[in-house]
Amino acid sequence: MYDFRPDPALGTPALYRELIAAAEALTADEPDPVANMANLAALLWEFLPDLNWAGFYRMAPRRDGAGAELVLGPFIGRPACIRIALGSGVCGTAAASGATQLVADVHAFPGHIACDAASRSELVVPVRRAGQVVAVIDLDSPRLARFTPEDAAGIEALAEAIAARI
Ligand code: SME
Repeated sequence: MYDFRPDPALGTPALYRELIAAAEALTADEPDPVANMANLAALLWEFLPDLNWAGFYRMAPRRDGAGAELVLGPFIGRPACIRIALGSGVCGTAAASGATQLVADVHAFPGHIACDAASRSELVVPVRRAGQVVAVIDLDSPRLARFTPEDAAGIEALAEAIAARI
């Protein structure tokens, strides 16, 4: 059994230090990327309050073979849109630009893709290997402005820590 429940009194930087230590412990000996992404999604869900979606989109070939797009990976939350074109929505913008997207109000983000009508704010962080975006970590919250720059820095550190394991 794994029991990584964090202390609710932890401040944000300490919470992310614990989350990353747990993520490294969970994935260290496992080469299967699906198993690791599934456990990481569960870990994000356990550690971070006020989420309604937490998981991965992976960079994968388009079905017509013309380049790449994002394809749904392991997640916790409501069923989600499966394929997202690069540059489209919050996830596609993060993947195409390589830049973290911290969106306080998803309704104000041009082209936001609504997978769950309850989502109000979103944080999407690219995961890179050898300089290439290979996936994004996507977090949604039903609370407006749920995510802070500290959350963005924490998820960026997580993305770096687990990049070789997904
Ligand atoms: N809102 C995302 C789509 C993915 S769902 O939130 C799970 C977007 O605009 O890219």
